[in-house]
Amino acid sequence: MAEHDVVIIGAGAAGLFCAGIAGQLGLKVLLIDHSPKIAEKIRISGGGRCNFTNRETGPGNFLSANPHFCRSALARYSAQDFIALLQRHRIAFHEKHKGQLFCDNSADDVIGLLLRECDAGGVVRWQPCEVAAVRHGAGGFELDTDRGPVRARRLVVASGGLSIPKIGASDFGYRLARQFGHRIIETRPALVPLTFAGDAWQGFVPLAGVALPARVATASGKARGEFLEDLLFTHRGLSGPAILQISSFWRGGTPIELDLAPGTDLGRELLAAKAATPRRQLDNALAQWLPRRLAEAWSAAVLPGDDASSAAARASRPLADWRDRELHQVAATLQRWTLIPNGTEGYRKAEVTAGGVDTRELSSSTMASQRLPGLYFIGEVVDVTGWLGGYNFQWAWASAAACARAMAAEAREAA
Ligand code: FDA
Repeated sequence: MAEHDVVIIGAGAAGLFCAGIAGQLGLKVLLIDHSPKIAEKIRISGGGRCNFTNRETGPGNFLSANPHFCRSALARYSAQDFIALLQRHRIAFHEKHKGQLFCDNSADDVIGLLLRECDAGGVVRWQPCEVAAVRHGAGGFELDTDRGPVRARRLVVASGGLSIPKIGASDFGYRLARQFGHRIIETRPALVPLTFAGDAWQGFVPLAGVALPARVATASGKARGEFLEDLLFTHRGLSGPAILQISSFWRGGTPIELDLAPGTDLGRELLAAKAATPRRQLDNALAQWLPRRLAEAWSAAVLPGDDASSAAARASRPLADWRDRELHQVAATLQRWTLIPNGTEGYRKAEVTAGGVDTRELSSSTMASQRLPGLYFIGEVVDVTGWLGGYNFQWAWASAAACARAMAAEAREAA
């Protein structure tokens, strides 16, 4: 039977990074992945340029049932640490927006870096390789794989979440966690477009492709999320960074609020427009702040009227025909447009999976299971979900580094 110090299941961002560090710290590492292709999620990330970290990463950029869990690992392996590693590998990158760092060339640069780090650590990689069963006994973990049985004192689960099943996502990590008595915080698609249906949405379907900056919010108190980003109309609903961000906070059946003219005192602006250009139609006036097609569709669908056509007729009335009170009401509705999504585009389109292995049963400094010595969980399979903007990769790097260093220290102590 093949013997290793560590078997890591999942050769994605977290698994590759952990394997490289653990190998370089002297552990004999076997890295297993069932997919024939290496690190597909990194390859398609950031539009092919991999938003590999965010300069501003902090614990506040993550969602979890246990919000402080990520603090320790993020502090001990920071965005700056990963940037320094990229510089050592001479990979060119740039900042795009709000601290988000992307490769100048391609996400393949990051994959190449990870593979070189694994080579430097003498990591053995089995790919594609299916793991049929995992047992734990006196000598550690025994795995049945389609390349034969394997034994290791330590097992790292880095099999990711459920998003994008067509490139290898599976529920393996959650099943394995349950097998060893771990609780799972309910999983749900996150960083995902929201869908809308019904008569009230029909008027917005032709707007697919229209984009604008918007402030989007949902929930209240500690659960509240609020983002000022671009919003995009799609064939089935809404997407764009503002919606992807808010989707991680959204719970089924609850509303989201949109301010389509953020940073504007729209009520005052409409009254000023009425004074300056009283013959101007309301929907034309709104087109000063919104794409014209949206101004028309929104006016027709949302302004009070007996039916869509009478609402549209109202929208084309000149500003002079609107009472000041009514214009204030129009502005308030547009700046607090409340919608209830009927769902999300699901794991097929979600960038990440929220929820996962309950962190209250893991060590925040080592990622080790508190239920079974030698078992570790890292990356997205853990209930730590980053915002859009490079935070999820930073969590993959930080949790992997914490785990690899802890395993190496533990092995040194045991020797
Ligand atoms: P990851 O999913 O990377 O790897 C898991 C590995 O486990 C896979 O290789 C899979 O094949 C393997 N596996 C699964 N089941 C297995 C089994 N049963 N047996 C063996 N192997 C198994 N984040 C970010 O910070 N910046 C960005 O730009 C983007 N962009 C982005 C775009 C798109 C389209 C998606 C879908 C996602 C992103 N993300 C992102 C999120 C980011 O890709 C994600 O959070 C990390 O890849 C998670 O790293 P992990 O290593 O935990 O899982």
